Amino acid sequence: MLRLALFGNPISHSLSPQLHNAFAQQFNMAIDYQRILTPLDQFKKTVDDFRAQGGLGANVTIPFKTEAFEYADQLTDRAKLAGAVNTFIFKNNICIGDNTDGAGFIRDIKNKLIDLRDKKILLIGAGGAARGILSDIVREKPKEINIYNRTIEKAKQLNQDFVETSIHRVSNYDIIINATNMNFQTDFPLNLLCENTICYDLNYGERHKTFFNYCRSHNAEKIFDGFGMLVEQAAEAFFQWTEKMPNTKQCLMN
Ligand code: ATR
Repeated sequence: MLRLALFGNPISHSLSPQLHNAFAQQFNMAIDYQRILTPLDQFKKTVDDFRAQGGLGANVTIPFKTEAFEYADQLTDRAKLAGAVNTFIFKNNICIGDNTDGAGFIRDIKNKLIDLRDKKILLIGAGGAARGILSDIVREKPKEINIYNRTIEKAKQLNQDFVETSIHRVSNYDIIINATNMNFQTDFPLNLLCENTICYDLNYGERHKTFFNYCRSHNAEKIFDGFGMLVEQAAEAFFQWTEKMPNTKQCLMN
């Protein structure tokens, strides 16, 4: 029985247990995947306890991804690039910190037959979610990337070269990615979308609604939420723990 867990706060809404149980079933594997509601001031102790009980791996979600980065004994290259950890692998008393968000994002984009190459991309947001996917986007060789963020300094910290300070006048993006948790009912610059702009939100469920409505009201037709990315980042984490890559199609259809 593989012992796995999710550390976060809050976590009651998380779909991770269902996803990982579905993956495990594909391989007839027995797993015990627990949601562990982690007190805000006890991340280290909670992870230590889980490891002491024989945990093999874990996912980490809001608000602990930066603390998880500090906690890990070793970091994968992609976790270093993201500056955050969403997956722990516990092996021989070592905690390896990984980040599967970028891989999950790219895999979902490809599932949707979206090609980032030579495209003009606007990334809205410069927090942890944006950081998690930026280097993966760059690797796909788009023509241009602009990062827009309410706090310009944070966008500059993310990547000085891509900062866009006045998107009021910019339009004709091929792809717009929402990596914020803002409410798009608030005043947001207009004219970002042209007819064929692809709108991709890293949020899903309730949190996707305002971005969806914003895009719809600007006549966008191709609007995607982050559910596919959630499934794909989970599959990548499952692979890191078990060396088995689940088929995600089944989960994506439900
Ligand atoms: P996450 O890990 O989910 O990315 P985060 O690191 O707190 O969370 O980042 C949240 C992002 O949403 C930031 O880009 C933030 O903008 P600021 O850097 O200016 O704070 C953005 N955001 C949140 N609320 C916002 C709002 N009301 N208007 C504009 N941007 C907002």
